[in-house]
Amino acid sequence: MTIHATGLSVVRSGHTILHPTDVEIRPGTRVGLVGASGSGKSTLGHALIDILRAQGQSVSHVPQSPDEALDPLRSMAFHWREAERALNMAPNPARQETLFTALRIEGGDVRKRPWGWSRGMQQRFVIAMALIGTPDLLVMDEPTSALDPVVAADTMDLLDTYLADRATALLLVTHDLGLAARRVTRLMVMEAGQVVEDAPTTQLLSAPETVAARSLCAHRNWLELPC
Ligand SMILES: Nc1ncnc2c1ncn2[C@@H]1O[C@H](COP(=O)(O)OP(=O)(O)O)[C@@H](O)[C@H]1O
Ligand SMILES: [Mg+2]
Repeated sequence: MTIHATGLSVVRSGHTILHPTDVEIRPGTRVGLVGASGSGKSTLGHALIDILRAQGQSVSHVPQSPDEALDPLRSMAFHWREAERALNMAPNPARQETLFTALRIEGGDVRKRPWGWSRGMQQRFVIAMALIGTPDLLVMDEPTSALDPVVAADTMDLLDTYLADRATALLLVTHDLGLAARRVTRLMVMEAGQVVEDAPTTQLLSAPETVAARSLCAHRNWLELPC
């Protein structure tokens, strides 16, 4: 289902931190939401999730750190079951196995609590959980910035492979243009609470039009990093 939201805006403490914004994302496409820290990326991501859920569309969110998604006192199995329950889905071992294999966490002991898993495995578990309901959209907010570059790249590779030919669209929220450029076909650039540029990745990298996009592109050497 095409993601379609219009007139998103957010005011906090009397300040407009997100100016009226429309977002359209076609099924299965991968879009990067990039911009400097404080430009409003997370604000737009959350506003989009809220309105889409209110419209009855299925949207999953992967936060920057697995700590935000996992309760240290609960087992991994408990988290998985809770995620299924929230979606009104019965336990399905085959589905769990498929997702665990896709994110390469099949060796993880689900009886353990989060601290029994490495950070990288925890984040891949959170991503697998986010995919349980085959959402229309997966919003990932700086999903790998807490991971080392090799683990981060591996994680994104596994997700790329899993999402290929699936209808779930991806909104990758990141300050890292190098990361986004490798993973998405379209880039939205934010500055001061507004989307100031929205273009295919190759076009934006070769001919950025706005000051914000040009300044992000000035760091294109980041593209050499493996994530
Ligand atoms: N609850 C809030 N009250 C006031 N200002 C906020 C609040 N949340 C975020 N902001 C401000 O909104 C701007 C955008 O924040 P954010 O969406 O987190 O940016 P980004 O994700 O791009 O780093 C920042 O200037 C931030 O200080
Ligand atoms: Mg943010």
